[in-house]
Amino acid sequence: MELLEKIKDKKAKIGIIGLGYVGLPLGLEFAGKGFDVLGFDLDERKIKFLKEGKSYIKHINSEKIKKAVSDGKLNAISDFSKISGMDAIIICVPTPLNEHREPDMSYVEGTAITIAKYLRIDQLITLESTTFPGTTEEILLPLFEKAESAGNNGFKVGKDFYLAFSPEREDPNNPKYSTSTIPKVIGGVTQKCLEAAKALYDQIIVETVTVSSPRAAEATKLLENIYRSVNIALVNELKMVFDRMDIDIWEVIYAASTKPFGYTPFYPGPGLGGHCIPIDPFYLTWKAREFEINTKFIELAGEINTYQPHYVVEKAMEVLNKFKKALNGSKVLILGASYKRDIDDMRESPSLKLIEIFNERGAIVDYSDPYIPTLPKTRKYNFDMKSIELSDSSVREYDLVVLSTDHTDFDYNMIGDNAKLILDTRNAFEKNNLKSKNIYKA
Ligand SMILES: NC(=O)c1ccc[n+]([C@@H]2O[C@H](COP(=O)([O-])OP(=O)(O)OC[C@H]3O[C@@H](n4cnc5c(N)ncnc54)[C@H](O)[C@@H]3O)[C@@H](O)[C@H]2O)c1
Repeated sequence: MELLEKIKDKKAKIGIIGLGYVGLPLGLEFAGKGFDVLGFDLDERKIKFLKEGKSYIKHINSEKIKKAVSDGKLNAISDFSKISGMDAIIICVPTPLNEHREPDMSYVEGTAITIAKYLRIDQLITLESTTFPGTTEEILLPLFEKAESAGNNGFKVGKDFYLAFSPEREDPNNPKYSTSTIPKVIGGVTQKCLEAAKALYDQIIVETVTVSSPRAAEATKLLENIYRSVNIALVNELKMVFDRMDIDIWEVIYAASTKPFGYTPFYPGPGLGGHCIPIDPFYLTWKAREFEINTKFIELAGEINTYQPHYVVEKAMEVLNKFKKALNGSKVLILGASYKRDIDDMRESPSLKLIEIFNERGAIVDYSDPYIPTLPKTRKYNFDMKSIELSDSSVREYDLVVLSTDHTDFDYNMIGDNAKLILDTRNAFEKNNLKSKNIYKA
């Protein structure tokens, strides 16, 4: 296979479609290893940033981008006809849910239709977007087999082109792991497809793990995320039960974590956030219906996790009530808008849901987040809000401060000293050795 030689000699041209949280670091890894990388995106703003050697994702260093661009190893473009010049094409486009909580495959399908326009002999395509088992073989494969350039005879997979699924595993801003140090699962449509995809990823990833089919690889990613969703739901449920019993869930989790086997800690919070955990499990739920199976665990976990922001607001009312105050008319400050500590990603963030419910209940709501100066419009929300600068006097203005995201940069001592009342959904104040009568947990 000529492609294998090109990959081994680092002569293969790598096309990355979708330059977001997954595609950009992946492109940088290939560029860092000496491959020529061309990124494709519909978002002209991202292309402009990359061409100028600038990052648009907080935890991705501009220096790395600048170097890859000035070395001539990384470029970005919105002209998709250049796909035909690529040897390997990696798809990293979004896979959200639509308003009926069903898979929105329009990005993946749209990308596959575009690739099919330009597909040529000996190209490898891998899909990294999280999706339901069957996507690669049921959606991508038929489009590529009937690619325009194939003529009437069509292309044969494993002979004319190669196709595989390899899910992205990312833990944004985790200093211990990056794209290249996280083992990667790969499933090829044929043995030759697997061989090509493995050769490609072996160039940049510490360990590749092969499975028997793209379906098995698609299911692996879903298992990983469903496992987290279900376990987070379990501790969220226990949090609510233990609270009634006057037991602190955090104390219990820390104690249980001392068991050296058979227990992995998960932590409660104000609700699920991010692009993966609140969304991916429902890709399986949707597909399972085709096989007349109800995914009860997934649905139940979804129900409990979705309820968490409502639980936090109920707790807020309870706490204010202790001090003879109503939520209606109270000033509430939400700390943290991103879905996770120390990152600038607010997709599906429970803080947004909190703002919505607090508003609905008549509270006067502000937020503060050092990484999110204004709240951009999202698919669901359009808040016209700016982050509040935290100071002794600004914190004192609020009837209640709700800690939603436990950013390291927050000055917990200052907030603890000045806030009238605090509702902590992450146990952040206690972790910073602050315990006081005005700090409650939710
Ligand atoms: N972010 C994570 O931590 C993470 C981890 C594992 C898996 N994933 C999965 O990876 C996929 C991508 O996620 P992400 O977080 O990188 O998303 P993202 O929104 O950050 O990036 C996607 C990019 O694709 C671009 N795009 C959309 N449609 C396109 C098209 N037709 N052609 C070219 N570009 C297009 C968008 O402009 C955007 O830049 C999703 O399926 C997600 O579930 C994400």
